[in-house]
Amino acid sequence: MRLEGKVAIVTGGGIGIGRSVCQLLAREGAKVTVTDVSENDAMQAVEDIKRPGGTAECWHLDVTKEIELKNTFAEIEAELQRIDVLANNAGISGVDRPAHEITEAEWDQLTAVNVKGVFICAKDVIPHLKKGGGVSIISLSSIYGLVGVRNSMDRWLNHHGSRCT
Ligand SMILES: NC(=O)c1ccc[n+]([C@@H]2O[C@H](COP(=O)([O-])OP(=O)(O)OC[C@H]3O[C@@H](n4cnc5c(N)ncnc54)[C@H](O)[C@@H]3O)[C@@H](O)[C@H]2O)c1
Repeated sequence: MRLEGKVAIVTGGGIGIGRSVCQLLAREGAKVTVTDVSENDAMQAVEDIKRPGGTAECWHLDVTKEIELKNTFAEIEAELQRIDVLANNAGISGVDRPAHEITEAEWDQLTAVNVKGVFICAKDVIPHLKKGGGVSIISLSSIYGLVGVRNSMDRWLNHHGSRCT
């Protein structure tokens, strides 16, 4: 129960790794705020936490919309009196096509969620975190933030009857 009395916000907490992060935070005693663009998934994640006795609620939150997330953080603090943890989990892998076939709109969406979203969530939660002590921002990343994805191009080349040299 290392997080007893703490309030934790998880972005993209409706499914996948985010939902598991929500469950772990709840098992450690945190009041978990599951946020996601998919309200149905967020509601399901909340049910999964409440069933064994955890505390959670869900909010719609698109990490690419700064006004929406500022309002949401303010509403969460007003309702739960504090914010102690932000888990920046929301992320998308983008389209599985070679670079020269990716559109500007697809690139903009990828960077809006994975880069801008992580930054503005952290930036806008800091004023809330500064009111407490022992606070954390956790940001998930990927090995593919460090290296290229050879398999993606290989799949395309195999399909077109050619190979990387
Ligand atoms: N799954 C992996 O193998 C893996 C590996 C390395 C890193 N990661 C990272 O871990 C995180 C979670 O990955 P996952 O596999 O569980 O993803 P997932 O696709 O299973 O879940 C992502 C969640 O984020 C939500 N989301 C998408 N866009 C959003 C937005 N604009 N605002 C708010 N929520 C949004 C989705 O609705 C979904 O609930 C991501 O940041 C991903 O880059 C995953």
